[in-house]
Amino acid sequence: MASLKTLLYLGICLSARRMTNADENSAPKADKVRWVSVDFTTSLIWNAKPSDYTFTVLYSADNSDWTESPDCIDISETECDLTNHLIPLDRMYSADIKTEPPSTVDIDPDELPHTYSPLFNPYRESNISALKFTVESVRDGRVTVNITDPVTSIHKHGKQLSIRDILKNDLKYKISYYKSGSTGKRDIIFASSMANISGLDAGHSYCFMVAAFIPSRPKPSQHGVWSTQVCTSSNETVLKDLSFEAWIGVAFILLAALIIIITVSVLCCRQRNKMLRTSQTSAPI
Ligand SMILES: *[C@@H]1O[C@H](CO)[C@@H](O)[C@H](O)[C@H]1NC(C)=O
Ligand SMILES: *[C@@H]1O[C@H](CO)[C@@H](O)[C@H](O)[C@H]1NC(C)=O
Ligand SMILES: *[C@@H]1O[C@H](CO)[C@@H](O)[C@H](O)[C@H]1NC(C)=O
Ligand SMILES: *[C@@H]1O[C@H](CO)[C@@H](O)[C@H](O)[C@H]1NC(C)=O
Repeated sequence: MASLKTLLYLGICLSARRMTNADENSAPKADKVRWVSVDFTTSLIWNAKPSDYTFTVLYSADNSDWTESPDCIDISETECDLTNHLIPLDRMYSADIKTEPPSTVDIDPDELPHTYSPLFNPYRESNISALKFTVESVRDGRVTVNITDPVTSIHKHGKQLSIRDILKNDLKYKISYYKSGSTGKRDIIFASSMANISGLDAGHSYCFMVAAFIPSRPKPSQHGVWSTQVCTSSNETVLKDLSFEAWIGVAFILLAALIIIITVSVLCCRQRNKMLRTSQTSAPI
């Protein structure tokens, strides 16, 4: 009876061990496949449990034939840069991540897992990074905003393309600005990277932010990342900027200070005189 129990336990242990072994050796499937794309530099990223298996990435434009990505054959990383293969940019791409066995494992290729990516159109979905720009006060109430288009990692005829070279007339800019100290914001859309803004209050400081804006795209990818803000310095001295009420305030403060000074010095003098008199009377003659 006891030996039967032992045998049973042994059997359970062995089969459990075999199951975990099988699990460790099973081919990992690419999981959570996603596209990450900024300024038309596009990578495919996925999750997979660590193992000796590798991955090969295939891609296809608009449901055409699958092509192996030459940089992503039998790779052990879980990321593949497809920037230079997703051309032309304005196509619907999909990718297929195949799991490849290590040379030591003999396995039927049909048993290996693979995972399709979501569809991705770089022209319409690549994120646009924050733009660099300068603001220059031209004259009273007018500024010129000069925006620099980010460059991409795509080259054509030996020239590195900017986002403007790619998006052409689809690229607009959104400029958001507010008067320093006020809460009202204004947004204006410009087609050119040099923008004149007029009608500002002369002598006031204004703060500006810019973002790429692509109205032809679907809503979620229309906006680029907002830049950090740049503020103009107010061109006039603080005193000139003060309102009538502020001037009255300043007059009151000055008056109050004057009264305090007079009172204190009068009190001090009296006190000193008193002390002087006391010391004179108490001094021995
Ligand atoms: C674009 O940026 C948003 C917000 O950071 C992010 O959720 C999205 O995945 C990004 N898309 C791509 C294609 O990188
Ligand atoms: C705008 O900025 C770019 C890049 O900083 C610069 O090369 C160009 O001369 C500027 N344009 C003007 C009109 O200031
Ligand atoms: C902005 O104003 C300057 C003169 O101050 C002018 O030369 C330039 O053409 C204007 N730019 C735009 C886009 O209106
Ligand atoms: C203020 O503006 C005037 C012209 O509008 C200019 O000559 C002067 O240099 C400016 N001062 C400062 C400190 O920017």
